[in-house]
Amino acid sequence: MCGIVGYIGPRQGPDVVLGGLRRLEYRGYDSAGIAVIDGAGIDIRRDVGKLGNLEAMLRQSPLAGHLAIGHTRWATHGVPSQRNAHPHLGMEGRVVLVHNGIVENYQSLREELSAEGVDFRSETDTEVIVQMVERFMAAGLSLEEAARQTLGRLNGANAVVLMSVDQPDRLVCARIGNAGGIALGIGAGEMFIASDIPAILEYTRQIIFLESRQMAVVTVDDYRLTDLDGRPMRAEVHAIAWDPVSAEKGEYKHFMQKEIFEQPRALIDTLGGRIDFETGCVSLPEMNLTPELVANIDKLYIVACGTSYYAGLVGKYLIETLARLPVEVEYASEFRYYDPILNERTAVLSITQSGETADTLAAAEQARAQGATLWAIVNAIGSQSMRLSDGTIAMHAGPEIGVASTKAFTASLADLYLLACALGTLRGTITPAQMRRLADDVARLPALVGRVLEHDADYQALAERFHRASDFLFLGRGINYPIAMEGALKLKEISYIHAEGYPAGEMKHGPIALIDEEMPVLAIVTKDSLYEKMISQVQQAKARGGVVIALATEGDEAIRGEADVVITVPEAPPLLAPIVNVVPLQLLSYHIAVRRGADVDQPRNLAKSVTVE
Ligand code: AGP
Repeated sequence: MCGIVGYIGPRQGPDVVLGGLRRLEYRGYDSAGIAVIDGAGIDIRRDVGKLGNLEAMLRQSPLAGHLAIGHTRWATHGVPSQRNAHPHLGMEGRVVLVHNGIVENYQSLREELSAEGVDFRSETDTEVIVQMVERFMAAGLSLEEAARQTLGRLNGANAVVLMSVDQPDRLVCARIGNAGGIALGIGAGEMFIASDIPAILEYTRQIIFLESRQMAVVTVDDYRLTDLDGRPMRAEVHAIAWDPVSAEKGEYKHFMQKEIFEQPRALIDTLGGRIDFETGCVSLPEMNLTPELVANIDKLYIVACGTSYYAGLVGKYLIETLARLPVEVEYASEFRYYDPILNERTAVLSITQSGETADTLAAAEQARAQGATLWAIVNAIGSQSMRLSDGTIAMHAGPEIGVASTKAFTASLADLYLLACALGTLRGTITPAQMRRLADDVARLPALVGRVLEHDADYQALAERFHRASDFLFLGRGINYPIAMEGALKLKEISYIHAEGYPAGEMKHGPIALIDEEMPVLAIVTKDSLYEKMISQVQQAKARGGVVIALATEGDEAIRGEADVVITVPEAPPLLAPIVNVVPLQLLSYHIAVRRGADVDQPRNLAKSVTVE
């Protein structure tokens, strides 16, 4: 969850690290810190709260040096405070470290080290690592060997970067399990380390991703990769195409706003080259789909968390409709702890923006162990999820920085549509003529989303009216039921308004008890086969005094007699309607959060990549 950056080279390390942390602040933002090694030893600045506090501290009391590490924290052990902030320093002041993950056996290690005289200064699990490394070094081991010995004693998923005054020409980093990534950036006469590549793309596009149980010793112009037993390993250098500029806010007030407005472009990018709009042919080369493979699969599980899980619910609808393949959608955090029935005839599809969500990765690993084929829809290039899957579809949404996911959601829905088309074609459930129509439909999608965005000002006005609500109910049916869930999640994440998303037909089985004149009910009543049914739900809500906001299709005049407020979207092909319908809900949540003065891009308690359980 935390953001990590390291630098060695001729530039001022604190500047590079601080710039990198700024791009990673979405990963954790309850405290931050930087350490450098210069002639005088290790120097550290840490502060609680957002990075701005650390920046202010550095203006008062600057750091200088060519070897530096930094961290933004998302607290797991120990409250957010200055003493719990990273980097953590060994008792003798000779080793310093930043860490992402959880040391599950830290209590027993802490007791062991305390018994040996170590004086702990924080409540974190992290501190045991640095104290132990320092003790191994005091006994004569190199930084690399001391780190290796220490990591061998840790339980759990962990990623670390270390440096020591006793070997001030190097950084040592390592990754065990799915604790967020560690990427090495190769520069000319300088090297970079980061938990997430946007932190360093400004300097280099040549990236090595550390796999689990790999360690790297990084000097100014070299790197050496080994496994945790010290055996040399071959490094694969990836050339990354992401544009660092897309990780900037530009003219927008918030990243989330920018990312909402980037959706037409993201959809063009994700569809581009994958569907021939003339012939209707879908090509997903990285999925490695063959007729034999597809014929062998009789069941698909989709595993994901949060917004990606809601994408999976839409995916079930798409794949079952177009490919007639049975699909079950599971929260990855549940899937990993029950006993799903999997075998070599099962495919398991992960959907993940970050590609580093610990629960989703664990679910995929479990599926792998049971012989399933692993597929993934992933945004973050080079992420663990991408690397461990047999077949992937890259979202091509570009870096998503706002904690609340928007463009990655719509890009993953577009990818699910393509996957459903590809599977349907291979399974013979879609004729070439149908496929051409499906291609025509999706060709219109970016423009339809663009038209919704033209009405941004309407959502601002709506937010003005509803921003004081303390509860919201979102209703949808069929393929739009997951969109109701996603609308509710967006609102609660960034505005802290309690919101529920429900399949509208379920309202009468419970949630209807909540409805009164204080409770806005947002109903997705666009024109589809369930339109009449949705109108009945609107009437039921109105009969209980609810204030109904109807999300309707342009030109639907009848709905105006049913709802208190009507917002409209252009008519969309039914299977693509979720992608169009979610955009007004994103805009509404965004403007309500802004109106309430909330921290839109970094909502409290959340982090972008959830790399712990
Ligand atoms: C989305 O707005 C959330 N912040 C969150 O639910 C997110 O979708 C979830 O944590 C899964 O993340 P992933 O797609 O990176 O795996």
